[in-house]
Amino acid sequence: MREKKDGESGGPMFGGACKATRPKSPWRYNPGMAEALFSEMKAFVGFSEADAAALKSVKSQITPVLSDIVVGFYDQLLKNQGTRNVLLEGPGRLARLRVFLLEWLEQLFCGCYDFAYYETRARIGRTHVRVDLPQHYMFTAMSYIRLSLVRVIRGFGLENEMQVLGALHKLLDIELAIMNDTYREDYVDRIQAAERVQFEQRISESEHLATIGQLAASLAHEIKNPLAGISGAIQVLGAEMEDGHAHKEIIAEALRQIDRLDAAVRDLLLYARPQQPALQREDLGQILAHALILLRQEPAFRGLRVRCEGITMPHWVHVDGAQVKQVIVNLMINAAHACEEGGEIECRIESVSDSVRLVVEDTGCGIRPDVLTRVFEPFFTTKARGTGLGLAICRRIVEVHNGRIEIQSVPGRGTRVIVELPRAA
Ligand code: HEM
Repeated sequence: MREKKDGESGGPMFGGACKATRPKSPWRYNPGMAEALFSEMKAFVGFSEADAAALKSVKSQITPVLSDIVVGFYDQLLKNQGTRNVLLEGPGRLARLRVFLLEWLEQLFCGCYDFAYYETRARIGRTHVRVDLPQHYMFTAMSYIRLSLVRVIRGFGLENEMQVLGALHKLLDIELAIMNDTYREDYVDRIQAAERVQFEQRISESEHLATIGQLAASLAHEIKNPLAGISGAIQVLGAEMEDGHAHKEIIAEALRQIDRLDAAVRDLLLYARPQQPALQREDLGQILAHALILLRQEPAFRGLRVRCEGITMPHWVHVDGAQVKQVIVNLMINAAHACEEGGEIECRIESVSDSVRLVVEDTGCGIRPDVLTRVFEPFFTTKARGTGLGLAICRRIVEVHNGRIEIQSVPGRGTRVIVELPRAA
Protein backbone atom coordinates (compact mmCIF):
# COMPACT_ATOMS: atom_id res chain seq x y z
CA MET A 1 0.00 0.00 0.00
CA ARG A 2 1.45 3.40 -0.99
CA GLU A 3 1.97 5.69 2.08
CA LYS A 4 0.94 9.38 1.81
CA LYS A 5 3.85 11.94 1.78
CA ASP A 6 3.56 15.46 3.36
CA GLY A 7 1.46 17.83 1.26
CA GLU A 8 0.10 14.91 -0.67
CA SER A 9 -3.69 15.00 -0.80
CA GLY A 10 -5.91 12.01 -0.77
CA GLY A 11 -5.85 8.92 1.47
CA PRO A 12 -4.59 5.37 1.09
CA MET A 13 -6.06 4.06 -2.17
CA PHE A 14 -4.94 0.56 -3.05
CA GLY A 15 -3.43 -2.64 -1.80
CA GLY A 16 -6.41 -4.46 -0.26
CA ALA A 17 -8.15 -2.01 -2.56
CA CYS A 18 -11.54 -2.53 -1.00
CA LYS A 19 -10.52 -1.62 2.58
CA ALA A 20 -10.25 2.14 2.11
CA THR A 21 -10.94 4.29 5.19
CA ARG A 22 -14.31 6.13 5.59
CA PRO A 23 -13.94 9.93 5.09
CA LYS A 24 -14.53 11.97 8.30
CA SER A 25 -17.13 14.65 7.49
CA PRO A 26 -20.29 13.66 9.37
CA TRP A 27 -22.37 16.78 8.54
CA ARG A 28 -21.68 16.44 4.87
CA TYR A 29 -21.50 12.71 4.58
CA ASN A 30 -24.28 10.19 5.10
CA PRO A 31 -22.85 6.67 4.53
CA GLY A 32 -26.30 5.13 4.44
CA MET A 33 -27.46 7.46 1.70
CA ALA A 34 -24.15 7.16 -0.18
CA GLU A 35 -24.31 3.39 -0.17
CA ALA A 36 -27.85 3.48 -1.50
CA LEU A 37 -26.81 5.98 -4.16
CA PHE A 38 -23.90 3.80 -5.30
CA SER A 39 -26.11 0.71 -5.53
CA GLU A 40 -28.63 2.72 -7.51
CA MET A 41 -25.92 3.93 -9.89
CA LYS A 42 -24.76 0.38 -10.52
CA ALA A 43 -28.32 -0.88 -10.93
CA PHE A 44 -29.17 2.03 -13.22
CA VAL A 45 -26.39 1.23 -15.73
CA GLY A 46 -26.88 -2.51 -15.17
CA PHE A 47 -23.37 -3.09 -13.83
CA SER A 48 -23.32 -6.77 -12.81
CA GLU A 49 -21.00 -9.27 -11.14
CA ALA A 50 -20.30 -10.55 -14.64
CA ASP A 51 -19.14 -7.07 -15.59
CA ALA A 52 -16.89 -6.96 -12.52
CA ALA A 53 -15.41 -10.31 -13.46
CA ALA A 54 -14.93 -9.24 -17.08
CA LEU A 55 -12.91 -6.21 -16.01
CA LYS A 56 -10.86 -8.27 -13.59
CA SER A 57 -10.15 -10.77 -16.35
CA VAL A 58 -8.02 -8.20 -18.21
CA LYS A 59 -6.21 -6.80 -15.16
CA SER A 60 -2.92 -8.60 -15.66
CA GLN A 61 -2.89 -7.81 -19.38
CA ILE A 62 -3.76 -4.16 -19.13
CA THR A 63 -1.78 -3.13 -16.03
CA PRO A 64 1.58 -2.99 -17.84
CA VAL A 65 0.26 -0.55 -20.48
CA LEU A 66 -1.64 1.79 -18.19
CA SER A 67 1.40 4.01 -17.60
CA ASP A 68 1.38 4.90 -21.32
CA ILE A 69 -2.19 6.10 -20.95
CA VAL A 70 -1.15 8.17 -17.94
CA VAL A 71 1.65 9.82 -19.91
CA GLY A 72 -0.70 10.49 -22.85
CA PHE A 73 -3.41 11.83 -20.50
CA TYR A 74 -1.25 14.47 -18.89
CA ASP A 75 0.48 15.35 -22.19
CA GLN A 76 -3.04 16.05 -23.47
CA LEU A 77 -3.91 18.16 -20.43
CA LEU A 78 -0.66 20.11 -20.66
CA LYS A 79 -1.71 21.32 -24.14
CA ASN A 80 -4.62 23.24 -22.62
CA GLN A 81 -3.66 26.45 -20.77
CA GLY A 82 -6.33 26.02 -18.10
CA THR A 83 -5.42 22.47 -17.13
CA ARG A 84 -1.72 23.16 -17.63
CA ASN A 85 -1.86 25.85 -14.96
CA VAL A 86 -3.52 23.42 -12.55
CA LEU A 87 -1.05 20.63 -13.25
CA LEU A 88 2.05 22.78 -12.90
CA GLU A 89 0.91 24.45 -9.68
CA GLY A 90 3.29 23.63 -6.82
CA PRO A 91 6.42 21.46 -6.92
CA GLY A 92 5.97 17.81 -7.73
CA ARG A 93 2.26 17.99 -8.42
CA LEU A 94 2.46 16.51 -11.91
CA ALA A 95 4.65 13.64 -10.72
CA ARG A 96 2.21 12.99 -7.88
CA LEU A 97 -0.71 13.09 -10.26
CA ARG A 98 0.88 10.56 -12.55
CA VAL A 99 1.13 8.14 -9.62
CA PHE A 100 -2.47 8.89 -8.54
CA LEU A 101 -3.90 8.35 -11.97
CA LEU A 102 -1.99 5.13 -12.56
CA GLU A 103 -3.38 3.73 -9.34
CA TRP A 104 -6.82 5.00 -10.27
CA LEU A 105 -6.62 3.21 -13.64
CA GLU A 106 -5.36 -0.02 -12.05
CA GLN A 107 -8.29 0.13 -9.67
CA LEU A 108 -10.72 0.17 -12.59
CA PHE A 109 -9.79 -3.48 -13.15
CA CYS A 110 -9.71 -4.61 -9.49
CA GLY A 111 -12.95 -6.57 -9.93
CA CYS A 112 -14.35 -5.54 -6.55
CA TYR A 113 -16.65 -2.51 -6.77
CA ASP A 114 -18.10 -2.40 -3.29
CA PHE A 115 -18.89 0.53 -1.03
CA ALA A 116 -15.23 0.99 -0.05
CA TYR A 117 -14.49 1.41 -3.77
CA TYR A 118 -17.19 4.08 -3.95
CA GLU A 119 -15.80 5.91 -0.94
CA THR A 120 -12.32 6.07 -2.43
CA ARG A 121 -13.71 7.39 -5.70
CA ALA A 122 -15.87 9.93 -3.91
CA ARG A 123 -12.84 11.13 -1.94
CA ILE A 124 -10.97 11.63 -5.23
CA GLY A 125 -13.91 13.64 -6.47
CA ARG A 126 -13.74 15.77 -3.35
CA THR A 127 -10.03 16.33 -3.93
CA HIS A 128 -10.86 17.79 -7.36
CA VAL A 129 -13.52 19.96 -5.77
CA ARG A 130 -11.09 21.05 -3.06
CA VAL A 131 -8.44 22.06 -5.62
CA ASP A 132 -11.22 24.00 -7.38
CA LEU A 133 -10.87 22.02 -10.58
CA PRO A 134 -13.60 23.31 -12.94
CA GLN A 135 -16.16 20.54 -13.40
CA HIS A 136 -16.02 20.61 -17.18
CA TYR A 137 -12.35 19.53 -17.15
CA MET A 138 -13.29 16.51 -15.13
CA PHE A 139 -15.83 15.26 -17.60
CA THR A 140 -13.94 16.04 -20.79
CA ALA A 141 -10.79 14.45 -19.39
CA MET A 142 -12.70 11.23 -18.87
CA SER A 143 -13.26 10.94 -22.62
CA TYR A 144 -9.52 10.71 -23.16
CA ILE A 145 -9.28 7.88 -20.63
CA ARG A 146 -12.27 6.09 -22.12
CA LEU A 147 -10.98 6.23 -25.70
CA SER A 148 -7.46 5.19 -24.65
CA LEU A 149 -8.69 2.17 -22.68
CA VAL A 150 -11.04 1.08 -25.45
CA ARG A 151 -8.20 1.29 -27.97
CA VAL A 152 -5.90 -0.78 -25.75
CA ILE A 153 -8.53 -3.41 -24.98
CA ARG A 154 -9.45 -3.71 -28.64
CA GLY A 155 -5.78 -4.39 -29.24
CA PHE A 156 -5.88 -7.49 -26.99
CA GLY A 157 -8.16 -9.45 -29.37
CA LEU A 158 -10.15 -10.76 -26.40
CA GLU A 159 -12.88 -13.37 -26.80
CA ASN A 160 -15.03 -11.48 -24.32
CA GLU A 161 -14.10 -8.09 -25.79
CA MET A 162 -17.73 -6.92 -25.99
CA GLN A 163 -18.35 -7.90 -22.38
CA VAL A 164 -15.16 -6.17 -21.21
CA LEU A 165 -15.86 -2.99 -23.20
CA GLY A 166 -19.49 -2.93 -22.09
CA ALA A 167 -18.38 -3.31 -18.48
CA LEU A 168 -15.77 -0.59 -18.91
CA HIS A 169 -18.24 1.94 -20.33
CA LYS A 170 -20.67 1.22 -17.51
CA LEU A 171 -17.98 1.64 -14.88
CA LEU A 172 -16.65 4.87 -16.40
CA ASP A 173 -20.19 6.25 -16.43
CA ILE A 174 -20.50 5.34 -12.76
CA GLU A 175 -17.18 7.12 -12.16
CA LEU A 176 -18.54 10.22 -13.85
CA ALA A 177 -21.74 10.00 -11.81
CA ILE A 178 -19.68 9.79 -8.60
CA MET A 179 -17.60 12.81 -9.67
CA ASN A 180 -20.74 14.72 -10.57
CA ASP A 181 -22.18 13.90 -7.19
CA THR A 182 -19.12 15.23 -5.35
CA TYR A 183 -19.40 18.50 -7.27
CA ARG A 184 -23.13 18.68 -6.43
CA GLU A 185 -22.32 17.93 -2.81
CA ASP A 186 -19.78 20.73 -2.82
CA TYR A 187 -22.21 23.10 -4.48
CA VAL A 188 -24.82 22.30 -1.82
CA ASP A 189 -22.15 22.74 0.88
CA ARG A 190 -21.20 26.15 -0.45
CA ILE A 191 -24.83 27.27 -0.61
CA GLN A 192 -25.51 25.90 2.86
CA ALA A 193 -22.34 27.53 4.17
CA ALA A 194 -23.33 30.85 2.56
CA GLU A 195 -26.86 30.50 3.94
CA ARG A 196 -25.48 29.63 7.37
CA VAL A 197 -23.27 32.72 7.30
CA GLN A 198 -26.22 34.85 6.18
CA PHE A 199 -28.44 33.27 8.82
CA GLU A 200 -25.84 33.81 11.53
CA GLN A 201 -25.33 37.36 10.31
CA ARG A 202 -29.08 37.97 10.42
CA ILE A 203 -29.28 36.43 13.90
CA SER A 204 -26.43 38.54 15.22
CA GLU A 205 -27.85 41.61 13.45
CA SER A 206 -31.28 41.09 14.94
CA GLU A 207 -29.75 40.40 18.37
CA HIS A 208 -27.66 43.51 17.93
CA LEU A 209 -30.72 45.51 16.90
CA ALA A 210 -32.80 44.07 19.71
CA THR A 211 -30.14 45.23 22.18
CA ILE A 212 -30.01 48.66 20.57
CA GLY A 213 -33.80 48.78 20.54
CA GLN A 214 -34.03 47.99 24.24
CA LEU A 215 -31.34 50.52 25.00
CA ALA A 216 -33.05 53.12 22.86
CA ALA A 217 -36.41 52.35 24.46
CA SER A 218 -35.17 52.76 28.00
CA LEU A 219 -33.32 55.92 26.98
CA ALA A 220 -36.38 57.30 25.22
CA HIS A 221 -38.48 56.41 28.22
CA GLU A 222 -36.08 58.31 30.48
CA ILE A 223 -36.04 61.33 28.16
CA LYS A 224 -39.78 61.49 27.37
CA ASN A 225 -41.12 62.88 30.63
CA PRO A 226 -38.31 65.43 31.40
CA LEU A 227 -38.64 66.61 27.80
CA ALA A 228 -42.35 67.22 28.26
CA GLY A 229 -41.48 69.09 31.44
CA ILE A 230 -38.89 71.27 29.68
CA SER A 231 -41.27 72.01 26.83
CA GLY A 232 -44.01 73.02 29.26
CA ALA A 233 -41.67 75.28 31.22
CA ILE A 234 -40.34 77.00 28.11
CA GLN A 235 -43.85 77.55 26.81
CA VAL A 236 -44.75 79.21 30.09
CA LEU A 237 -41.66 81.41 29.80
CA GLY A 238 -42.58 82.28 26.25
CA ALA A 239 -46.18 83.03 27.10
CA GLU A 240 -45.03 85.56 29.71
CA MET A 241 -42.97 87.47 27.14
CA GLU A 242 -44.46 90.37 25.24
CA ASP A 243 -44.65 90.13 21.45
CA GLY A 244 -41.40 91.36 19.85
CA HIS A 245 -39.39 90.43 22.92
CA ALA A 246 -35.80 89.73 21.86
CA HIS A 247 -35.90 86.22 23.34
CA LYS A 248 -39.23 85.28 21.74
CA GLU A 249 -37.38 83.80 18.69
CA ILE A 250 -35.00 81.87 20.92
CA ILE A 251 -37.94 80.37 22.78
CA ALA A 252 -39.57 79.40 19.50
CA GLU A 253 -36.32 77.76 18.26
CA ALA A 254 -35.93 75.91 21.56
CA LEU A 255 -39.48 74.57 21.25
CA ARG A 256 -38.79 73.50 17.65
CA GLN A 257 -35.71 71.57 18.78
CA ILE A 258 -37.70 69.99 21.61
CA ASP A 259 -40.32 68.91 19.06
CA ARG A 260 -37.57 67.30 17.01
CA LEU A 261 -36.25 65.47 20.08
CA ASP A 262 -39.78 64.46 20.96
CA ALA A 263 -40.28 63.05 17.43
CA ALA A 264 -37.04 61.06 17.77
CA VAL A 265 -38.11 59.73 21.17
CA ARG A 266 -41.50 58.79 19.72
CA ASP A 267 -39.76 56.96 16.86
CA LEU A 268 -37.49 55.08 19.28
CA LEU A 269 -40.43 54.00 21.42
CA LEU A 270 -42.52 53.14 18.36
CA TYR A 271 -39.66 51.04 17.02
CA ALA A 272 -38.60 49.40 20.26
CA ARG A 273 -42.12 48.78 21.61
CA PRO A 274 -44.43 48.31 18.63
CA GLN A 275 -48.11 48.48 19.61
CA GLN A 276 -50.44 45.65 18.72
CA PRO A 277 -52.67 47.07 15.95
CA ALA A 278 -56.29 47.78 16.88
CA LEU A 279 -57.81 46.57 13.64
CA GLN A 280 -60.88 48.26 12.28
CA ARG A 281 -62.59 48.62 8.91
CA GLU A 282 -61.20 51.89 7.61
CA ASP A 283 -61.25 53.81 4.35
CA LEU A 284 -57.61 54.23 3.34
CA GLY A 285 -58.49 57.43 1.49
CA GLN A 286 -59.76 58.93 4.73
CA ILE A 287 -56.60 57.98 6.58
CA LEU A 288 -54.53 59.58 3.81
CA ALA A 289 -56.63 62.76 3.97
CA HIS A 290 -56.13 62.97 7.75
CA ALA A 291 -52.38 62.48 7.35
CA LEU A 292 -52.23 65.29 4.79
CA ILE A 293 -54.06 67.62 7.17
CA LEU A 294 -51.50 66.80 9.83
CA LEU A 295 -48.68 67.62 7.45
CA ARG A 296 -50.08 70.92 6.30
CA GLN A 297 -47.90 72.86 8.77
CA GLU A 298 -44.82 70.76 8.11
CA PRO A 299 -42.11 73.18 6.83
CA ALA A 300 -40.64 70.47 4.59
CA PHE A 301 -43.66 70.77 2.24
CA ARG A 302 -43.19 74.47 1.58
CA GLY A 303 -42.73 75.06 -2.15
CA LEU A 304 -43.82 71.52 -3.09
CA ARG A 305 -46.90 70.38 -5.02
CA VAL A 306 -48.82 67.49 -3.48
CA ARG A 307 -51.39 65.69 -5.67
CA CYS A 308 -53.78 62.95 -4.61
CA GLU A 309 -55.66 60.48 -6.76
CA GLY A 310 -58.14 57.76 -6.04
CA ILE A 311 -59.49 59.07 -2.76
CA THR A 312 -62.87 60.06 -4.17
CA MET A 313 -64.26 56.57 -3.56
CA PRO A 314 -63.67 54.52 -0.40
CA HIS A 315 -61.01 51.79 -0.32
CA TRP A 316 -61.83 49.62 2.67
CA VAL A 317 -59.00 48.05 4.59
CA HIS A 318 -58.84 46.28 7.96
CA VAL A 319 -56.18 48.23 9.81
CA ASP A 320 -55.17 50.27 12.81
CA GLY A 321 -55.91 53.74 11.41
CA ALA A 322 -53.41 55.56 13.64
CA GLN A 323 -50.57 53.23 12.74
CA VAL A 324 -51.28 53.42 9.01
CA LYS A 325 -51.46 57.19 9.30
CA GLN A 326 -47.98 57.06 10.92
CA VAL A 327 -46.74 55.14 7.88
CA ILE A 328 -48.19 57.72 5.49
CA VAL A 329 -46.74 60.62 7.49
CA ASN A 330 -43.26 59.00 7.52
CA LEU A 331 -43.39 58.31 3.77
CA MET A 332 -44.65 61.80 2.94
CA ILE A 333 -41.98 63.48 5.09
CA ASN A 334 -39.28 61.36 3.40
CA ALA A 335 -40.65 62.36 0.01
CA ALA A 336 -40.69 66.03 0.99
CA HIS A 337 -37.09 65.88 2.29
CA ALA A 338 -36.00 64.37 -1.04
CA CYS A 339 -37.58 67.14 -3.10
CA GLU A 340 -36.16 70.51 -4.04
CA GLU A 341 -38.29 73.66 -4.21
CA GLY A 342 -40.94 73.13 -6.92
CA GLY A 343 -40.80 69.37 -6.54
CA GLU A 344 -43.90 67.21 -6.71
CA ILE A 345 -45.32 64.44 -4.58
CA GLU A 346 -48.14 62.28 -5.85
CA CYS A 347 -50.23 59.98 -3.66
CA ARG A 348 -52.42 57.36 -5.30
CA ILE A 349 -54.77 54.76 -3.94
CA GLU A 350 -55.82 51.88 -6.16
CA SER A 351 -57.39 48.46 -5.77
CA VAL A 352 -55.34 45.45 -6.90
CA SER A 353 -56.86 41.97 -6.61
CA ASP A 354 -57.41 41.37 -2.85
CA SER A 355 -55.33 44.33 -1.70
CA VAL A 356 -55.50 48.09 -1.62
CA ARG A 357 -52.37 49.80 -2.87
CA LEU A 358 -51.08 53.19 -1.73
CA VAL A 359 -48.38 54.73 -3.91
CA VAL A 360 -46.32 57.74 -2.79
CA GLU A 361 -44.18 59.05 -5.64
CA ASP A 362 -41.83 62.03 -5.59
CA THR A 363 -39.70 63.88 -8.13
CA GLY A 364 -36.84 64.18 -5.62
CA CYS A 365 -33.17 63.22 -5.71
CA GLY A 366 -33.81 59.46 -5.70
CA ILE A 367 -31.82 56.83 -3.83
CA ARG A 368 -28.54 55.18 -4.88
CA PRO A 369 -28.86 51.39 -5.40
CA ASP A 370 -26.37 50.58 -2.60
CA VAL A 371 -28.39 52.74 -0.20
CA LEU A 372 -31.71 51.33 -1.44
CA THR A 373 -30.74 47.87 -0.16
CA ARG A 374 -30.40 49.26 3.36
CA VAL A 375 -33.26 51.75 3.68
CA PHE A 376 -35.33 49.49 5.91
CA GLU A 377 -32.42 48.82 8.27
CA PRO A 378 -33.14 50.40 11.71
CA PHE A 379 -30.91 53.38 12.53
CA PHE A 380 -29.66 53.49 8.94
CA THR A 381 -29.85 56.99 7.50
CA THR A 382 -27.99 59.11 4.97
CA LYS A 383 -29.53 62.29 6.36
CA ALA A 384 -27.88 64.63 8.84
CA ARG A 385 -31.16 64.70 10.76
CA GLY A 386 -33.46 61.94 12.00
CA THR A 387 -33.14 58.61 13.78
CA GLY A 388 -33.07 56.40 10.70
CA LEU A 389 -36.06 54.59 12.12
CA GLY A 390 -38.81 56.02 9.88
CA LEU A 391 -38.81 53.32 7.22
CA ALA A 392 -38.01 50.49 9.66
CA ILE A 393 -41.15 51.52 11.59
CA CYS A 394 -43.15 51.71 8.33
CA ARG A 395 -42.12 48.22 7.30
CA ARG A 396 -42.86 46.80 10.70
CA ILE A 397 -46.34 48.36 10.77
CA VAL A 398 -47.14 47.22 7.22
CA GLU A 399 -45.90 43.67 7.95
CA VAL A 400 -47.86 43.45 11.17
CA HIS A 401 -50.92 44.19 8.96
CA ASN A 402 -49.93 41.34 6.58
CA GLY A 403 -49.12 43.93 3.97
CA ARG A 404 -46.04 44.58 1.94
CA ILE A 405 -43.96 47.67 1.24
CA GLU A 406 -41.58 48.19 -1.65
CA ILE A 407 -39.36 51.09 -2.72
CA GLN A 408 -38.32 51.76 -6.30
CA SER A 409 -35.98 54.62 -7.02
CA VAL A 410 -33.88 56.16 -9.77
CA PRO A 411 -31.10 58.55 -8.61
CA GLY A 412 -31.87 62.05 -9.95
CA ARG A 413 -35.37 61.02 -11.07
CA GLY A 414 -37.31 60.28 -7.93
CA THR A 415 -38.69 57.55 -5.73
CA ARG A 416 -41.87 55.48 -5.65
CA VAL A 417 -43.02 53.75 -2.48
CA ILE A 418 -45.70 51.09 -2.86
CA VAL A 419 -47.63 49.90 0.18
CA GLU A 420 -50.17 47.10 -0.21
CA LEU A 421 -52.63 46.30 2.56
CA PRO A 422 -55.17 43.48 2.64
CA ARG A 423 -58.59 44.66 1.53
CA ALA A 424 -61.36 44.57 4.16
CA ALA A 425 -64.00 41.95 3.47
C1 HEM B 1 -11.17 11.55 -15.30
C2 HEM B 1 -10.28 12.29 -15.03
C3 HEM B 1 -9.44 12.30 -13.78
C4 HEM B 1 -9.13 11.32 -12.91
C5 HEM B 1 -9.56 9.89 -12.95
C6 HEM B 1 -8.30 11.90 -11.89
C7 HEM B 1 -7.78 11.20 -10.81
C8 HEM B 1 -7.18 11.82 -9.72
C9 HEM B 1 -6.79 11.13 -8.50
C10 HEM B 1 -6.92 9.66 -8.28
C11 HEM B 1 -6.31 12.06 -7.64
C12 HEM B 1 -5.81 11.83 -6.21
C13 HEM B 1 -6.94 12.18 -5.32
C14 HEM B 1 -6.74 11.82 -3.90
O1 HEM B 1 -6.05 10.91 -3.58
O2 HEM B 1 -7.39 12.47 -3.07
C15 HEM B 1 -6.38 13.32 -8.31
C16 HEM B 1 -6.00 14.51 -7.75
C17 HEM B 1 -5.90 15.66 -8.48
N1 HEM B 1 -6.27 15.84 -9.80
FE1 HEM B 1 -7.20 14.54 -10.95
N2 HEM B 1 -8.11 13.22 -12.15
C18 HEM B 1 -8.79 13.50 -13.30
C19 HEM B 1 -8.86 14.69 -13.96
C20 HEM B 1 -8.13 15.78 -13.57
C21 HEM B 1 -7.98 16.95 -14.37
C22 HEM B 1 -8.59 17.19 -15.73
C23 HEM B 1 -7.19 17.79 -13.65
C24 HEM B 1 -6.77 19.17 -14.03
C25 HEM B 1 -5.87 19.51 -14.64
C26 HEM B 1 -6.88 17.15 -12.40
C27 HEM B 1 -6.14 17.69 -11.40
C28 HEM B 1 -5.96 17.11 -10.17
C29 HEM B 1 -5.34 17.78 -9.03
C30 HEM B 1 -4.83 19.20 -9.02
C31 HEM B 1 -5.31 16.87 -7.97
C32 HEM B 1 -4.77 17.10 -6.56
C33 HEM B 1 -3.34 16.78 -6.65
C34 HEM B 1 -2.55 17.19 -5.46
O3 HEM B 1 -2.17 18.35 -5.39
O4 HEM B 1 -2.35 16.42 -4.59
N3 HEM B 1 -7.47 15.92 -12.37
N4 HEM B 1 -6.90 13.15 -9.58
